[in-house]
Amino acid sequence: MCSVTCMLWLGTCILLLGPAGTGALSLCPDKCHCHGDLQHVICDSAGLKKIPQVSEATRLLNLQRNNLGGIPSGSFSESKGLISLHMQHCQLREIESQAFKGLKKLVYLYLSNNKISSIKSGAFEDLTELTYLHLDGNQISELSKGIFSPMINLFLLQLSDNRLQELQPGTFAGTKDLRWLHLSGNKLTTLQPGSLDDVENLAILHLDRNKVSTYPGAAMRKLRVVEELMLGSNPMRTIPDNAFQSFGRYMEKLHLDNMGLEKFSGGAFNGVTAVKFLHLDNNKLKSLPSAMQLGTIINMTVFNNPWNCSCQLAPLRKWMDSHQNKINATCASPTSQKGIQVRDSIALKRCKNKTKKNRTGRRHGTLSYTGGTKKESVQVTSYDSSTS
Ligand SMILES: *[C@@H]1O[C@H](CO)[C@@H](O)[C@H](O)[C@H]1NC(C)=O
Ligand SMILES: *[C@@H]1O[C@H](CO)[C@@H](O)[C@H](O)[C@H]1NC(C)=O
Ligand SMILES: *[C@@H]1O[C@H](CO)[C@@H](O)[C@H](O)[C@H]1NC(C)=O
Ligand SMILES: *[C@@H]1O[C@H](CO)[C@@H](O)[C@H](O)[C@H]1NC(C)=O
Ligand SMILES: *[C@@H]1O[C@H](CO)[C@@H](O)[C@H](O)[C@H]1NC(C)=O
Repeated sequence: MCSVTCMLWLGTCILLLGPAGTGALSLCPDKCHCHGDLQHVICDSAGLKKIPQVSEATRLLNLQRNNLGGIPSGSFSESKGLISLHMQHCQLREIESQAFKGLKKLVYLYLSNNKISSIKSGAFEDLTELTYLHLDGNQISELSKGIFSPMINLFLLQLSDNRLQELQPGTFAGTKDLRWLHLSGNKLTTLQPGSLDDVENLAILHLDRNKVSTYPGAAMRKLRVVEELMLGSNPMRTIPDNAFQSFGRYMEKLHLDNMGLEKFSGGAFNGVTAVKFLHLDNNKLKSLPSAMQLGTIINMTVFNNPWNCSCQLAPLRKWMDSHQNKINATCASPTSQKGIQVRDSIALKRCKNKTKKNRTGRRHGTLSYTGGTKKESVQVTSYDSSTS
């Protein structure tokens, strides 16, 4: 029994070694062109039907636009030196388990614009150095738990324009250094609580063009350093209190456009202190929360909202007055202001100045009071704690 197995195994070895021995791997594959002693093997649109074997010397293999259909297990077993693998537009439907076995140096993997619907578990085994994974423009509807877990160095995961409906806890297990996650243009309705807990260092999160109707606060609560959040084109009507709080000090870009958004909760922007780009166009907003800080914003789009030109909108008007760019915002109410630009509306001219009282002045006054009673010293203390 054993001897048969061994013989078979040896036979396979001899078969595998055969072509290498005759030097096939040291030649540029048929229909491809090669540079730098086979370091770059370019087979773009070469009419290939199967994946060519390249030697360990090859760093970059470009297989774009060949009708390959799938990636069988061990396809790259002789290509252990690959750093960059390009397989866009290859009509790929399936990625087998151990498809990339042996590619322990691979950093860039491009699988965009295929027809991938199935990624078998273990498909990404051995990809411990992989940093950039592009899977956008496929038909992925499900990601099994831990599918990306071999990729402990993953930085960018591009999954836009697939068919994902739900994110579950464990999807991103093991990819603790993930910084850029692109999930635009899927069919996501739900991001389950905990589904982003494994990737708390995300800096860029794109969730636009999905079907999320409730702000996914529970899924996002562990995110600490998000700089760019895109939620546009989701059917979300409200943004709740503290939505961005856990990363509010870092968030510079916030896209909440084309959502049918009707209202921000009063504390929606709690903790948000650094936003520079804010996009709120094409919603159903009438006002902004009065506690919202607009001072750090350098660019804002607010057009196509039914703004209520009452004094609640005074902070927006104040922002407009202090910025040269003529942003488009039209009043829808009160009736007397309908159709008038917010920046021209007289309804906003007469608003009381809501800026805080001049505490510095009052505090000095209180401090200079010498015959202080208990009441006044309490006042001093309260000013101190509120200004520190
Ligand atoms: C603001 O953003 C819009 C749209 O992104 C862009 O067209 C415009 O040039 C920007 N303006 C400034 C002052 O950055
Ligand atoms: C301002 O936005 C409205 C939609 O709210 C649009 O109809 C109008 O053309 C825009 N005006 C300018 C000057 O962009
Ligand atoms: C506009 O705001 C004013 C003052 O807050 C309020 O009385 C009025 O009902 C609002 N109008 C609409 C259409 O929401
Ligand atoms: C509101 O106060 C600011 C300073 O805090 C001042 O520059 C501005 O002119 C005031 N506006 C009105 C309408 O009183
Ligand atoms: C606040 O009060 C101080 C001291 O009285 C004064 O120097 C300063 O100009 C005041 N600031 C404003 C904005 O009124």
